[in-house]
Amino acid sequence: MLLHIELPENVTIEHSGGDGWTILHGDALGILPHFRPGSFDALITDPPYASGGWTQTEKNRTTNQKYSSMRSEKALPDFIGDQKDQRSWTRWMAEWLFEAWKACKDGAPVCLFIDWRQLPCITDALQWAGWIWRGVVVWDKLTCRPQKGRFRQQSEFVVWGSKGSMPVNRPVGCLPGVFHYANPQNRTHVTEKPLPLMRDLVKICEPNGRILDPFCGSGTTVLAARLEGYEAAGIEASDAYFKLGSDRVRFALDAHEKAGEPAG
Ligand SMILES: C[S@@+](CC[C@H](N)C(=O)[O-])C[C@H]1O[C@@H](n2cnc3c(N)ncnc32)[C@H](O)[C@@H]1O
Repeated sequence: MLLHIELPENVTIEHSGGDGWTILHGDALGILPHFRPGSFDALITDPPYASGGWTQTEKNRTTNQKYSSMRSEKALPDFIGDQKDQRSWTRWMAEWLFEAWKACKDGAPVCLFIDWRQLPCITDALQWAGWIWRGVVVWDKLTCRPQKGRFRQQSEFVVWGSKGSMPVNRPVGCLPGVFHYANPQNRTHVTEKPLPLMRDLVKICEPNGRILDPFCGSGTTVLAARLEGYEAAGIEASDAYFKLGSDRVRFALDAHEKAGEPAG
């Protein structure tokens, strides 16, 4: 179950998983260097944006305060790693992106979720880490708060690229440049991405490939990958989301299997 990971003696990593998927519990920067080089066919992830405000005081609020409008009695657990300032965040992004670059095969695609505030910094970090930046896909969230006298902040983005060249004859079809999906209604995670969106996005990976998500939260990428016939490894540092994500993926895949629906 521990996909392609080599650990020094006496080091163990808590993990969960099943057929073709694993979620590792811990810090991405600590775990990524242990993957054998070239283990993954794609990096698809939604890192903490460290966004949600103009000032550091605004950014230092909890993730629920920044990103959720749920009433406190219904609030989901906060997640970690979202309070860095711009420079620290960009440096940290470049560091883990470099470790992930080593863990991926030549030609592997990379997809990174981000908002408008961090869009310039994430494209710097991606390239510093050695990836080729190839474009930006728009995620149209369909609904959002209107702002008088301003444009709605209706979109987030997927910055994408590859590890070196990306031949056009890969066995992958033409993919859209804009996705239209509303935020999930019954969320497990404060900033959970829509499962149908993730099922579309993972198709950038070659069929039967292995996908890495080092910030897997409630496991949406891992679940989408399995449902589309890929293997997947996630990493999650928060205790609460390691458990919630692992349970969610296991439950959903069991239900899928019981319904007799084949993956992919
Ligand atoms: C934006 S959320 C991902 C949400 C996910 N896409 C989903 O649909 O549920 C980012 C996640 O990264 C986790 N995280 C933050 N810093 C981390 C680190 N250094 N290593 C591993 N996970 C981390 C957070 O706890 C959070 O759950």
